[in-house]
Parts: sequence; structure tokens; C-alpha cells
Amino acid sequence: MITIRHYRKADAPRVGVLIADTYSEFNLSYASPKKRAKLLGPFHYARSRQHAHRDAIAQALRAPVILVAEDDGEIVSVLRGGRKDKQRIVLQSLFVKKSYQRQGIGRKLVERFERGCLRRGATAIRLLATLYAIPFYAALGYKRSTGVRTGKSFQGTGFKYQPMRKMLREKESR
Ligand SMILES: CC(C)(COP(=O)(O)OP(=O)(O)OC[C@H]1O[C@@H](n2cnc3c(N)ncnc32)[C@H](O)[C@@H]1OP(=O)(O)O)[C@@H](O)C(=O)NCCC(=O)NCCS
Repeated sequence: MITIRHYRKADAPRVGVLIADTYSEFNLSYASPKKRAKLLGPFHYARSRQHAHRDAIAQALRAPVILVAEDDGEIVSVLRGGRKDKQRIVLQSLFVKKSYQRQGIGRKLVERFERGCLRRGATAIRLLATLYAIPFYAALGYKRSTGVRTGKSFQGTGFKYQPMRKMLREKESR
């Protein structure tokens, strides 16, 4: 059974491997190995046992809100998010392990995140979707807020993303 809980520091190595594998396969498969290593940043070393590599991954994962989905103790998804200002929240990243995709886990995590945002008074969520994830976010009610942009991912350049946003409710008028 899938359960959702808050991330704990001890999860970092397992979450690092999940992100490295999913990001490489679904979002970075177009890049050469050298370019992919740059785009992966610290996650390139997700299977390393060196302290410096593990610390860099734990650091890269830091975010005000991190939720994980577990199946019988295995972490199969992670969502990271945080606050941009008082009312706008950013969904920073979401990954679902390949063999668990299309089972509603991504939707569950985003809906749980949205409920938390609403409770804290947010009116909108913004995100930079990978091109792969555009249909997913569209299915959850997110709209494109600009055209496709090209930017950085860690030390890598030329990464394409789609800014999207969802209004959670109208701003309250005074
Ligand atoms: C994008 C991602 C997070 C979606 O997670 P998921 O758990 O597979 O998504 P869900 O099962 O909750 O999908 C909900 C709905 O979104 C849409 N959807 C999800 N994946 C889709 C895909 N690959 N193509 C088209 N529509 C998709 C569907 O409408 C789906 O409902 P349905 O399965 O009943 O048709 C997952 O595919 C993933 O980790 N991708 C690689 C990493 C990535 O790009 N992350 C986004 C970073 S911003």
C-alpha cells in the first residue's frame, strides 16, 4: 500500500538514487553522458558512499516541504516545494519511480501539497515543468504561464522547461 509522509534526513541516499535514475531516464536521455553528468549535478554521484557526495545530495534536497511516497518501506516518489512569498508557492520537483508511474501517485502527492498550501493561505502554485511532465500537470489543472524556456540544471545548460501555474483561489479583496 502506498503511504505518504514527510521526508526524514536518513532518506537522502535513497531519494538521491530515485531522482538520479528518474531524471536521467525521463528528462535527460537526450544529453551526452558528459552533459548529463553536469545536468544531474550532485545526483550524478547518487550511488557514491563518499561523505562529500552524500552531503552534497542532502544539501541539494533541502526544501521547506518534502513529501515522499512509500510502498512497503521503499521510497517510490518525492515532491519538494517551498514558498516564494506570502501567497505564492513553488513546487520545485516531483519524481515517481518508473515502475510506479501512471498509478496516481504523482497526483496524490501534488494534491496533498496543494492542500497544505491552501491551509497556509497560498493563492497560487508555480512550477517549472520538465517537457515530459507537461501533460501530467495539465491534467491536474496547471496552465502554461509563458512559452518554453531554456535554462540551467546544476552545472548544465540548455535544459528546457515549461513555466506553469495554478490558481488555488482568488486573492481575497480587502
Ligand atoms: C510526471 C510524473 C511525476 C507523473 O507521475 P505519475 O505518478 O506517473 O502520474 P499520475 O499517475 O498521478 O498521473 C495523473 C494524470 O496525469 C496524466 N499523465 C501522467 N503521466 C503522463 C504521461 N506520461 N503522458 C500523458 N499524460 C500523463 C494522466 O492524465 C494521468 O491520469 P491517468 O493515468 O488516469 O490517465 C512522472 O511521470 C515522473 O516522475 N516523470 C519523470 C520526472 C519528471 O518529469 N518530473 C517532473 C519534474 S517538474
